[in-house]
Amino acid sequence: MKITKMNRIKSSAELTDRFQALGYDIPVEDDLSSLFEPVETGPFKLANRFTVLPMEGWDAEIDGKPSPLVERRWMNFAGGGAALLWGCEAAAILPEARANPHQLVLNEETAPTIAALRSSMHKHHAELFDRKLISGLQLTHSGRWSRPTGGFEPSTLYQHDVLDLRVAATRQSCLDDSAIEALANCFIQRAILVEQCGFEFVDFKHCHGYLTHEMLSAVNRQGAFGGCFENRTRFTRLVLDGIRHACPDLTIGVRLSAYDFLPFEAAGNGTGRPADTRHHFRFGATEDGLDVDLNETFEFLDMLAAAGVQLLCITAGSPYYNPHIQRPALYPPSDGYQPPEDPLAGVARMLWVTGEIKQRYPAMTIVGTGYSYLQDWLPQVAAGIVKAGLADSIGLGRIALSYPEMPLDLMQGKRLARKKICRTFSDCTTAPRNGLISGCYPLDPFYKKRSEAKQLKLIKRQG
Ligand SMILES: Cc1cc2nc3c(=O)[nH]c(=O)nc-3n(C[C@H](O)[C@H](O)[C@H](O)COP(=O)(O)O)c2cc1C
Ligand code: SF4
Repeated sequence: MKITKMNRIKSSAELTDRFQALGYDIPVEDDLSSLFEPVETGPFKLANRFTVLPMEGWDAEIDGKPSPLVERRWMNFAGGGAALLWGCEAAAILPEARANPHQLVLNEETAPTIAALRSSMHKHHAELFDRKLISGLQLTHSGRWSRPTGGFEPSTLYQHDVLDLRVAATRQSCLDDSAIEALANCFIQRAILVEQCGFEFVDFKHCHGYLTHEMLSAVNRQGAFGGCFENRTRFTRLVLDGIRHACPDLTIGVRLSAYDFLPFEAAGNGTGRPADTRHHFRFGATEDGLDVDLNETFEFLDMLAAAGVQLLCITAGSPYYNPHIQRPALYPPSDGYQPPEDPLAGVARMLWVTGEIKQRYPAMTIVGTGYSYLQDWLPQVAAGIVKAGLADSIGLGRIALSYPEMPLDLMQGKRLARKKICRTFSDCTTAPRNGLISGCYPLDPFYKKRSEAKQLKLIKRQG
C-alpha cells in the first residue's frame, strides 16, 4: 500500500492525480480567493470559509468550568481569523456524561464562566477583524465512552461483542427507555443554557460513537429507541422538538458522523484490521461495515431538514474504534494502529461524502472535516472544494491546535508558517489517552515547555 506523504507532493496536478489514483475526483485549486468569499445562505452570514472544529483538551477544571488552558485555546481559535467556531469543544450535559474527568460540563454553576469566556472570544475577534464572530457550543453525552472519574463508566444503548469488552460494559450499562427520555429532557435544558450564554447556536452532537451517535445504530435494541429507523431517530426528534419549543430563536446545528465502519484493531504487524467481521449494524455503512452507504444518512438529513436544521458539520466514524476514517494520520495515537489505507483516502472519502450531502441539501450551511492531513496543501484543496460547491466552510481540526492563525495568514497573503503545520503526529490524542492534557506538544512551544511533554515522551518510548 502506498502512503501519500504530503510533503513529497510537488504540484496541484500531482495531488489531483493522487486523488484520482485513489478513486476520487477532488478539485485542487491554486487560486485561493474562494476561501474569502462570504457564505450568504443558511442561518448565518459568514465572512469567510473557515471554521474551527470542536476540540476538547481534557483540561477543564474538575467542576467542569473552563480553566486557563481552555481559555487560551478558545482565544486562539477566536483570534485565528476563522469566521465560525463550531462548538468550541464538547461540553457534557451532566458530570457523569463526561469522556474524561476534565471535560467541560454545562450546568447552572458553570454557565456564567462559559458565558464570560464566550464574550471575551467575541470581543477579541471583533477587535481584530471588525466583525461579529459566530460561535456555538457542542452538547454531548459520552455514552459508551464515558469516563467521568478516570475509568470507564459506560452508558450504552445495546450490547456489542467488541466494544463492550473495550469499555467493560455489562448488561446493566444499557440505559432503559425512561433513562433515555430523561436525557432528552436534559439536552433541552442545556440548550436553554447555551442560548443564555449568548452562543449563536447549539451543536446537538451526533458523532464519534458517543450516545446520540450510538442511538442511530441501535438496530438490535428493543423498545421505543431501537430497531427501525423511526425508533432509532426518536431521541433526535424529541430533543429537536423540545429545543424548538423552549428556545425558538436558537439556531440548532448537528455534527454528524455521516458514515461509520466496523471497529478496527492492530493486527500482529501493527496495521489496522477489522476487529470482528460479524455483522454489526453501523449507521451510514454497507452491510459488511467497511464501506459508505448514505441511504439512511440521507433519510436522517431529510428529517433534520424537515425539523428546520440548516447547519451541519460532517464527520465520520469514531476516534475510539476506527480513527483512520475519522482523523486520518501518518502516525497513529499510542493506542491505535498503523493506517490500513492511505490516509489520503480517508481524507478523500470525507470530502466526497460531504460534497454528496452539500449537493443534495444546497440550502444548508455545510462544514467539512478531515483536512489536517493535507498539511501544506490544505488551502488548495479547500479552495477547490469551496469553488466546486462541495462544502460551504472548511473545518480546521488538529491544524487549528498547531497553527490557529492559519486563516489569518492566508487572508493576508502570507506564506504558510511551515513549522506550525500539523504533521499528524497524534500527540494531541496520545496525551489524553494517557491521562495528560491535550495540546500540540510537538509544534506549540507552550506545550513543548510543559512538564507533561516529558511525561508524554516517556510514555511513547515505553510504548
Ligand atoms: C484533541 C482532539 C479533540 C477533539 N475533540 C472533539 C470534540 O470535543 N468534539 C468533536 O466533535 N470532535 C472532536 N475532535 C475531532 C475534530 O473536531 C476533527 O473532527 C478531527 O480532528 C478531524 O479533523 P482534522 O483532520 O482537521 O484534525 C477532536 C480531535 C482532536 C484531535
Ligand atoms: S499533536 Fe500537533 S502535530 Fe500532532 S496531530 Fe496534534 S496538532 Fe497535529
